[in-house]
Amino acid sequence: MRQALCLAPAKINLALHVTGRRPDGYHELDTLVAFAGIGDRLTARPGAEDRFLLSGPFGRHLDAGPGNLVLRARDALARQVPGRPAVEIGLEKNLPVASGIGGGSADAAATLLALDALWDVRLPMADLEAMAAQIGSDVPMCLHSRPLRARGRGERIELLPAGPALHAVLVNPGVEASTPAIFAGLEKRDNPPLDFSGNGLPAVVELAAMRNDLQAPAVRAFPVIGETLGLLAAQPDCLLARMSGSGATCFGLFPGADEAQAAAAAIARLRPDWWSVATVLHGGEMPSRRAVSAAAGV
Ligand code: C5P
Repeated sequence: MRQALCLAPAKINLALHVTGRRPDGYHELDTLVAFAGIGDRLTARPGAEDRFLLSGPFGRHLDAGPGNLVLRARDALARQVPGRPAVEIGLEKNLPVASGIGGGSADAAATLLALDALWDVRLPMADLEAMAAQIGSDVPMCLHSRPLRARGRGERIELLPAGPALHAVLVNPGVEASTPAIFAGLEKRDNPPLDFSGNGLPAVVELAAMRNDLQAPAVRAFPVIGETLGLLAAQPDCLLARMSGSGATCFGLFPGADEAQAAAAAIARLRPDWWSVATVLHGGEMPSRRAVSAAAGV
């Protein structure tokens, strides 16, 4: 019996400019995204019946009902595979939920990739992207999990040439920011796009000139996000502190792994109930993200 494993890495918006509003109510975005060394882990294997099991530190924060993006992704792909076999899906939830780092979107993308492999569907990437966009704006970019620029609703993706990894600290202060509410709090929706040549991830000095336009409304709604940014920026050697997505997770960039580790440890000491981790943001494709193997114990 075969088993598919797919990692679902955290998505970090290094910059996110809101450039307009569309007639359908969504916003036009221009965002630079990188993917972290930390993430959820999704496994899929044939079973007697469909099952979905949650585990991991944030597993109990998530509803395993039909609205879960993993099940929506399973059912979307299943429509392409008449008579498909039952599948047991396990999700180890290591990322805080509703936190601006694309956890649910990454899980949905990992489900599409895992089941595409397990069921031997081999859909072209363009078809997977179209399916992903129906599930959520961030799901197509999470299929790629490598540095990219995304425009439109988030589905117009331009992969960036590989570059060096970045060292980062991710901090979540434990509040759940609702994405629609944060978008609704924008004071300006026609901001300029990224000033960016497209040749690899920009240097930190260039990133510093960019913004996350959702940061101001998020800080207004949740002042603790401002506190999180201040704490990151106050760490020795912090090169840049910014919020990801619609929050509440913020990231700091650091010159090396040691500085990032020290900052994450210092923040964990000061705020033991917050989530604070040091990680890398991959500069290119993630090594061995998806694997199909003989299932253990069968
Ligand atoms: O696409 P998704 O369901 O993930 O989007 C969640 C919410 O975020 C939308 O309902 C919308 O309020 C907001 N959104 C937006 N513009 C985007 C992406 C998301 O306004 N490009």
